[in-house]
Amino acid sequence: MFPLADRMKLVSESITLAVSAKANALKKAGVDVVGFGAGEPDFDTPAFIKDAAKAALDRGQTKYTPTPSIPELKAAIAEKFNRDNHLPYKPEQITIGAGGKHCLYMAFMAVLNAGDEVILPAPYWVSYPEQVKLAGGVVKVIKGEEKNGFKITPQQLEAAITPKTKIFLINSPSNPAGHMYSPAEQRALAEVIARHPNVIVFSDEIYEKLVYDGNQFASFATLHPSLIERTLTFNCHSKSFAMTGWRVGYIGGPKAAIDAINKLQSQMTSHITSFCQPAAATALSDPRGAESIEQMRKQFEKRGKHMWERLSALPKVTCVRPQGAFYCFPNIGAYIGKRAGGVEITDAVSFSAALLEQNHVAVVPGNDSGFDDHVRLSFATSMEQIDKGIDRIAEFLKTIG
Ligand SMILES: Cc1ncc(COP(=O)(O)O)c(C=O)c1O
Repeated sequence: MFPLADRMKLVSESITLAVSAKANALKKAGVDVVGFGAGEPDFDTPAFIKDAAKAALDRGQTKYTPTPSIPELKAAIAEKFNRDNHLPYKPEQITIGAGGKHCLYMAFMAVLNAGDEVILPAPYWVSYPEQVKLAGGVVKVIKGEEKNGFKITPQQLEAAITPKTKIFLINSPSNPAGHMYSPAEQRALAEVIARHPNVIVFSDEIYEKLVYDGNQFASFATLHPSLIERTLTFNCHSKSFAMTGWRVGYIGGPKAAIDAINKLQSQMTSHITSFCQPAAATALSDPRGAESIEQMRKQFEKRGKHMWERLSALPKVTCVRPQGAFYCFPNIGAYIGKRAGGVEITDAVSFSAALLEQNHVAVVPGNDSGFDDHVRLSFATSMEQIDKGIDRIAEFLKTIG
């Protein structure tokens, strides 16, 4: 037995990994699997962004850079925050990490002391609780009711705050349910936080550009005058610019917090890949960036509506309509306790495993997001695949009894 650190016992092995490993094995064996698992756009990175990285390589931008990245990128991000989000961050209030995930992890590490509580609305993105635990924090889940579109209420938030609460984490639009708070709903939450000056906010805004049906996005820190001083705003290029593999994420916030995160990063990764930095700046400042996002957003909007309509028409399945991001999160609870092809369905994991095994559709069980009777389907795939996959799910459901 290799002698690992005790902290490794804190991190759970993802139960969704078993399902994706099985999907990959089936694909390798030549089975035509419809994949709704991927949390990434199916579009390629826009060409002008790739060209900017190629030009940087050709110029020789292959050496170390400052930890928070080159001034040009920090300036482009500061301008984006001011222009798009009304967040008055200056370049020194910004740092860049290797994707949204790395930014969140560094921030938890920089902020949490052992035993500090983090309020996490469910359903939530799978990495939040694991990162909080690794940083010594304690997760306090508040469950968003499906009948309230998975959104928590100000009363729930107020009731969850204790003297140990350090962070309130909000992710809107959300992974995995695609739900989103209106500015008024967020303001009501912001007013609760404003009454508790010791609570800081992590606002994960990485899906801000993928918003549908005229819904309005607002950055959390703008919703109450006291919040700018105690909010960290997270964003990244992964989802909006179809740049998941580039690993570019960023944080805006009070300078003291950003300085601490930079200190940490200077001893961890130093900085993100140097030739990605000018390309990331170009993505934000070239007008073609906003145009590309809008083209992709329109596609996601059509696909999301179609997937939601088809899922909602399935017998005994309910589904909250996604307002943002690119996920549907249907409730398959009516099928739990029944059998599918001789297999007992006990929760979303066994449902997903049987669906994959028997009808060759890969979905993500909601267990790791706090809901063991829901599954997540990504609509970052073509209309044809959406129809083919949901036809297969309909066949699968017929066999459950
Ligand atoms: C809500 C949320 N936050 C953060 C991330 C991490 O993004 P990145 O790929 O930039 O690390 C994801 C990725 O799926 C996500 O869904």
